[in-house]
Amino acid sequence: MGYNLLKGKKGIIFGALDEKSIAWKTALKCYEEGAELVLSNAPVALRMGEINKLAEAVKAPVIGADVTNMADLKNLFEKSMEHFGGKIDFILHSIGMSVNVRKGKHYTEMNYEWNAKTLDISAMSLHKVLRTAWDLDALNEWGSVVALTYIAAQRVFPDYNEMADAKSLLESVTRSFGYHYGEKRKVRVNTISQSPTRTTAGSGVKGFDGFISYAEKMSPLGNASGEDCANYCVVMFSDMSRMVTMQNLFHDGGFSFTGVTQAVIEQMEK
Ligand SMILES: NC(=O)c1ccc[n+]([C@@H]2O[C@H](COP(=O)([O-])OP(=O)(O)OC[C@H]3O[C@@H](n4cnc5c(N)ncnc54)[C@H](O)[C@@H]3O)[C@@H](O)[C@H]2O)c1
Repeated sequence: MGYNLLKGKKGIIFGALDEKSIAWKTALKCYEEGAELVLSNAPVALRMGEINKLAEAVKAPVIGADVTNMADLKNLFEKSMEHFGGKIDFILHSIGMSVNVRKGKHYTEMNYEWNAKTLDISAMSLHKVLRTAWDLDALNEWGSVVALTYIAAQRVFPDYNEMADAKSLLESVTRSFGYHYGEKRKVRVNTISQSPTRTTAGSGVKGFDGFISYAEKMSPLGNASGEDCANYCVVMFSDMSRMVTMQNLFHDGGFSFTGVTQAVIEQMEK
């Protein structure tokens, strides 16, 4: 059931790869809440063709953009404004990729060229998206931008590898650009720090099954699902969260503030 929280709002959703993607679930929720959408992903991801199913379901055009490429982003924003017949109200940045993880390099043996690419795709791309919107004055006042992050930005999860550094940078860009965009246009910028979730990007983390069940046991509410995350994104895009900006918002069933749980103690006593 929808609440019309996004009625009349227009948004760009980056990063829907397949139906497991958090961006995919968020697009469906935004549509259900009355938003008009444009979907975007890297040209190589579009070639998989899956996104066309989502495009049909949410009646949105798909416009390819490599999020590290400023010309692609300019084209995406210009075409989106043309499609909407006006400015944009919200953006979901749901993008992450680690070249070192993909190629099996341990954190201590990092390849720095790959690392630069990882940081560009997973973190500086948020700056590039915001900068493009800023240059084109593409966002309406009180617009809302959300990027997805993980608690490895604050605490060590060894196998999260260089993505921990990427997420720290992403959260920092969120605060820094959020300040300037807030002053200029009352645009808000936040990150949502999501529980581990079974998606293509998520499953790339070594030992993901152990990771996900540990988090489940360490969270009083259990892990937040992709659908739960999509709902939270809707709230952040809506006028119900107008004064929230420059924040890293934990969406993890309480994991981030739990020292230990009874379930973990019992496991240790076995
Ligand atoms: N799955 C988890 O456990 C989890 C937990 C916390 C945060 N997150 C974050 O959520 C976000 C979405 O990931 P997901 O779990 O839905 O996985 P996903 O694999 O479905 O999504 C990642 C997306 O990034 C896109 N992408 C990669 N390189 C790109 C480029 N150069 N240009 C444009 N797009 C590009 C991919 O095509 C894909 O659609 C990521 O930022 C991820 O780090 C995921």
